[in-house]
This record gives sequence, structure tokens and C-alpha cells, in this order.
Amino acid sequence: MVETIQWTDEGVVMIDQTRLPREQVFVTCRDYKEVAEAIRSMVIRGAPAIGVAAAMGVALGVREGADFETVCQTLAQTRPTAVNLFWAIERMRRVAAAMNGASSGEVAARMIEEARGIREDDIAICRAIGRNGAPLVPDGKTVLTHCNAGALATAGYGTALGVIRAAAESGKQIDVFADETRPFLQGSRLTAWELQQDGIATTIITDNMAGHFLHSGRIGCVVVGADRIAANGDVANKIGTYSVAVLAKENGVPFYVAAPVSTFDLSIPSGEAIPIEQRSAAEVTHVFGVPIAPESIAVANPAFDVTPARYVTAIICERGVARAPYEESLRNMLR
Ligand code: MRU
Repeated sequence: MVETIQWTDEGVVMIDQTRLPREQVFVTCRDYKEVAEAIRSMVIRGAPAIGVAAAMGVALGVREGADFETVCQTLAQTRPTAVNLFWAIERMRRVAAAMNGASSGEVAARMIEEARGIREDDIAICRAIGRNGAPLVPDGKTVLTHCNAGALATAGYGTALGVIRAAAESGKQIDVFADETRPFLQGSRLTAWELQQDGIATTIITDNMAGHFLHSGRIGCVVVGADRIAANGDVANKIGTYSVAVLAKENGVPFYVAAPVSTFDLSIPSGEAIPIEQRSAAEVTHVFGVPIAPESIAVANPAFDVTPARYVTAIICERGVARAPYEESLRNMLR
């Protein structure tokens, strides 16, 4: 499986996700500012993966002797929606705070160890999500997914794609429909690429085809990832997820969200309070630098939407499967 992100002595090595699937190019971020830029420009993306990247960015910043607060602030200002980013920075902060009196070399070594630990943990967490979710996937049917919640969006194995992988590994006969996921094309560029490498039969559909196929009886369930889950079970995920969830409910297809507990933000009562990232117009008006819209046309480009909890059949995490009422079940998962 592809190595999404790794710590090396030279710096943080990531596969450049803006260039997949055409080219497999690895970039090395040698200081924390380069990590921040890689997150902002989506060289690395996906909630758990940017959490790992932020933690490694903090470790780099400490190693290079930069001001700790500035490092944390810079990394925190890269992308607003995925709570894993803030969760990882907070975890690094706590470890640093507990090292009062240690030498700068000792603190740097400990930061590196913690960041590498977050990466290792994430792979194990994704495997557990897969194990918990696999039994929910109907045998002999198609699974629909949106965006990329795979190995590329995590340290490895994936959340939604972890569930799909685990279901396939358990012997279920499944295939996947991957929404293309306009405008950044995470579905066609990344999900299809990953699953093709695994030998899991995958069909790309454009986003506006999802309703048609959900109505056809062919789709056994939908599985998607999440960027932030509020206390009431509302789920922020890639733009377009909400439409898929509504169409799934309308057609009686279960809609599952797969995410680690680090994606839960129980400080937020509902999805209303989740900050939604607005990205550049160029992502919509251009495809690989080629204009596909009239010059200077107005564009809206929210990167995420919020799916109300009533459309979510269950939330699959590393500790089990949470169902409504989510106020209670999500809190129980964190106990
Ligand atoms: O803008 P992106 O590509 O970072 O958005 C990614 C998603 O919305 C994923 O579904 C989510 O982060 C879960 S990844 C396991």
C-alpha cells in the first residue's frame, strides 16, 4: 500500500496528491512552513492525514528551534474544517508542556517520537474501523463512496475505504462506485487509483449520477469518511456528501460514516457551528490549468457540507458502531 506520509531524518516525506494518478512524486518538507504549505495546497489532504502532517510539522518546528506558539498557530491556520488537525496539534502541545525543564534536544526527540506514534496509531485505528464496519457491508452488492477516505487520506488503510477493504478481505463479493468528487476529483484521481491497485472492482461515476444509481437497487450501502462530527451526530465531509445522504435515505440505502474518534468534536453541539472552508475559484473554473468557464465569472467553492444526523444510519469508529441517539452513543465511545 502507498506510503502517504513518513518521518525521515531529512524531513517529512509525502506523496504529492495533487499529481496523482498521473505521476507518483514524493516531496520532502524540510521545515514546518513547508508542511503548512503542503497541507494548504492539498499535497496532503484527508482529515487523519493532515492531523499526522500537522504533528510532524510541530516536531520539525521544534527541531529547527522555531517559536513553539508560532509553529502551532501557523499549522492551525492551514485548513479550518477537519478537527483532526487541531486534535493533533493539541496532543503535541500537551506532550511539550509536560516536558518543562528538559533540554531542547530532549524535547525535539520526544516530539518526533510522538508524531511518529500518531502515524502508527492511525494505521491501527483504520484497521479497527475496518473490522467494525465490514459486517455492515452487504455481500454481493455495490458500495458507493464519495471523495477519498482511503490510505491517502490517513496514515494507511483508510476509514471508509478501510471498511471496504476489510469487507473484501473477509471474502464478501463487493464492488465500488466512486463519486468523481468535483471540483478536486479526489474520487476519480485518488479513490479509484487506490482501489484499482488493491484489485477491488471500481467504477467512477460523476457526482450527479449518484441519485440514479441509488434508485437502481444496485447500491447496498454508502460509506464515507468525515472531517468533523458534532455532538448530535451531524457530519461535515466533502462537499456533495449531504446530497448523497439524502438520496440514500430516500431510496432506503444505509448511509454509514467511518471515522476515528479524533474526528468527533463534542464541544460543538451541532453541525451549524462547524467552520466550512471556502477554497479558490480556480479549482472550479479550471481543470489542470485549462479554463472550463468564462473568465471572471462568479464562483462558490465550499469544500465541505454538513449532513444532518437524521440521514446517518451509523457512525463506525475504532471503538465500535454508534447509532442514534448520537448525543449518547458518541459520548459513550469517548468514555
Ligand atoms: O478536502 P479533502 O480532500 O481534505 O477532504 C477530505 C474528505 O472530505 C474526507 O472524506 C475526510 O477527510 C475523511 S478522510 C479519512
